[in-house]
Amino acid sequence: MTIRSASLHWNGLAKFFHWSIVVLLLAQGIAAVLMDGFPREMRGTVMMLHKSTGVLILLLAIARLAWRLMSKAPPVLPEVSAANRMLAQLGHVVLYVLLFAVPLSGFLMSAYGGRVTEFYGLFALPNFVAANDAMSALMHQIHEPLFFALVLAAAGHAAAALYHHYIKRDATLIRMLPGNRT
Ligand code: HEM
Ligand code: HEM
Repeated sequence: MTIRSASLHWNGLAKFFHWSIVVLLLAQGIAAVLMDGFPREMRGTVMMLHKSTGVLILLLAIARLAWRLMSKAPPVLPEVSAANRMLAQLGHVVLYVLLFAVPLSGFLMSAYGGRVTEFYGLFALPNFVAANDAMSALMHQIHEPLFFALVLAAAGHAAAALYHHYIKRDATLIRMLPGNRT
């Protein structure tokens, strides 16, 4: 399980984006599913935190994609077959699309509904769009299903990473883990 060249590694920024988004998404997803269980008087704060963390994830996803388009990703390890390479690339595109679609649908649900998004109570974000009840309802309808699609895609992606690590015993997972392990 060795990596022949340091250039095959994901750099610190790539790892920071990957794992900070994973941790925030986990917390956001768990809190969202439990959202209805919070006492009535806490709902306003819980929703403010939900929207703010969702916007934070969206900002990180934008920064990450910008970084990804500007710098080169390390090449896929030579031992990975062409078919698996294509499957992984397709999976990554799906993950990126959903990473944008989930928070964006949430933000647009709120903005088209004419409601304010207070970023952690610090300042109000501009809504960017004029109020539109039909669009708000549409965003409401797709927000949760998109989240479940993201959960499915991420589960498949994590299973693939574990398959590389434990079954194929190659360095695919290790080169994405924090720290320089080569
Ligand atoms: C990656 C980020 C996000 C994830 C994973 C996520 C996930 C979810 C989930 C799973 C629910 C359903 C909760 C339930 O009813 O049990 C939900 C509801 C909601 N989300 Fe998000 N969300 C994200 C971002 C956002 C953003 C950025 C906003 C707005 C700025 C937002 C606004 C809402 C609202 C208003 C609801 C309640 C909808 C209702 O009343 O049924 N979300 N979210
Ligand atoms: C919500 C969860 C996750 C999301 C949204 C996500 C997203 C992504 C994306 C978009 C990439 C492609 C990187 C790029 O080309 O910019 C990637 C790479 C990677 N992810 Fe994740 N990931 C998640 C969870 C995980 C987990 C739990 C693991 C480990 C068990 C993992 C392991 C990896 C590895 C090893 C790579 C590098 C693959 C390669 O070298 O080709 N990811 N991830």
